[in-house]
Amino acid sequence: MKELLEEMINVPGVSGYEEDIREYIRAKVEELGIEAEEDNIGNLLAKVGDKGPVVMFMAHMDELGLVVTKIEDDGSLRIRKVGGIDDRTLVGRVVKIKTQKGTVTGVLGLKPPHLMTESDDRKKVVSWEEVRVDVGTRSKKETEKLGVRVLDPMVLKKDITYLPGNIICSRGVDDRMGCAILVEVLKALKDKKLPVRVIFVWSVQEELGLKGAKVAGFTYRPDFMFAIDTMTSTDGPKQGDTYEKVFLGDGPALRMFDNYAIASPKLRKLLEEVAKASKIPLQYGSGGGTTDGAAVQDFGALMMAIGIPMRYTHSPTECASIKDMENTAKLMLKVTERIAKDFKHG
Ligand code: CO
Repeated sequence: MKELLEEMINVPGVSGYEEDIREYIRAKVEELGIEAEEDNIGNLLAKVGDKGPVVMFMAHMDELGLVVTKIEDDGSLRIRKVGGIDDRTLVGRVVKIKTQKGTVTGVLGLKPPHLMTESDDRKKVVSWEEVRVDVGTRSKKETEKLGVRVLDPMVLKKDITYLPGNIICSRGVDDRMGCAILVEVLKALKDKKLPVRVIFVWSVQEELGLKGAKVAGFTYRPDFMFAIDTMTSTDGPKQGDTYEKVFLGDGPALRMFDNYAIASPKLRKLLEEVAKASKIPLQYGSGGGTTDGAAVQDFGALMMAIGIPMRYTHSPTECASIKDMENTAKLMLKVTERIAKDFKHG
């Protein structure tokens, strides 16, 4: 599963440009002998079971990125952000641009102190409008020759690192970890023949406002919905003291309350019972942001957002625990078995 996650992290999928990661996941689903479907907005879906309540597991396959908005006469690129990238994390980074002629590498340059004058404010954050992507060319024509066009997407180069305790750090752990969990749960459930219909959704455009989730919720109106996403932990240094500690490695967190949703108290109870019976540690969390669960809940599902604790969300060093990933997959398998059992016994 760790290997699957690492591979997924390295496949780009900027919101609205998810084709590469979608095709990667499609191949993984088809390897299991299961048909994968794609809907109009671009969600990838896989289904198992033909009777019983509808359970939906969702993880978003889109990630933060940048898009080319203009090619300057000097060959450099102007950009616009896709999703909530923090301007403070932009300068000094390497980007991989997806073009018609393949991947082009660029760097997000910064004026060095050697060239600064009195009028330069060294403490000011360089905002995205001021950032230029240097692709090593001197003219617009040269840049166009590389294949770069306006609207081409790019991601910050991924650099996977491990901290002690099996903690993976990279850009894009949000939400490739959820995507890997769904593949794992699908693999575990496919031959079980449980009286429950499970729909796995790898959603698109979560970072732009839960767009893919709305379509899947509207189309399938599930009875139960679990949004599997990363959730900002509070155990790193300098993370404030507003929230109770949620630790990396101490288990998935029930994300009960965020900016757009309050999760189902009934599912909280159910998950607490399942976790206890299976000896899976659980944590609880609240905080800003939201998940695909908020959108699907609007169509009547009992909803729970399962948060995999993660430090430094939306930065190039998002860190999360491999153990939490494994425990989340186990919890989802066990809760499906429990829903099937409850249904069987009326
Ligand atoms: Co996310």
